[in-house]
Amino acid sequence: MTTNPFAETGHKILPSILSADFAKLASEIGDVLAGGADFLHLDVMDGHFVPNISFGPPVIKSARKATQAFFDVHLMISDPVGYASAMVKAGAQSITFQVETVEDPAKAAQEIRTLGCTVGITLNPATPVERILPALDHVNLVLIMSVVPGFGGQKFMPEVLPKCEVVKKRLRPDQRLEIDGGIHLDTIQTAANAGVDWFVIGSAIFDPPDRRATIGALRAKLGG
Ligand code: DX5
Ligand code: ZN
Repeated sequence: MTTNPFAETGHKILPSILSADFAKLASEIGDVLAGGADFLHLDVMDGHFVPNISFGPPVIKSARKATQAFFDVHLMISDPVGYASAMVKAGAQSITFQVETVEDPAKAAQEIRTLGCTVGITLNPATPVERILPALDHVNLVLIMSVVPGFGGQKFMPEVLPKCEVVKKRLRPDQRLEIDGGIHLDTIQTAANAGVDWFVIGSAIFDPPDRRATIGALRAKLGG
């Protein structure tokens, strides 16, 4: 297990467990990690900020028992600062919040950081990149949503790629650029060319039966 993923360079593949079979979550997690995945992406949805309800601390806690892999938790909830502590207690090592859910993104990032986790900020496709810039100094990770959040299996939106270039230019060497939504064999390279470091992949990894072959093919698109 990595102690500090932000000290590691190179492309990282993060399966989103939203597309896993929850009836056998531990073995699904084991399968993608044995298949070559780097870290895990966990999507928390409250049915309020997004029109779907996924899972919360109890499932994160159970998943934590199955692996020591790094947990990149994506909060699609209306009160991220209020729930961040429960997520960290359950096993989250990084908390990413949606800029649309907070008044002061820099303050929210600093509040979450006091919990001892790393912090990420994300924005919906329709949200201008300027909204996150005031918080850039206070985060470890910027997540560009390439679908409207709420569901896996949606179509990649290439119109968000210019945001990647704007953000990439402003990141410090210890910060990372992540993308989430519709990433698969035909879209991963385009995202990499826009400067993305970390790739969240749900349906394109969990739907095919051979996860090792799928992750290998995705990594080959990134140049191995
Ligand atoms: C969507 C989530 C994504 C999603 C990705 O709101 O934030 O992480 O699970 O799934 P795919 O890769 O299938 O688009
Ligand atoms: Zn996500």
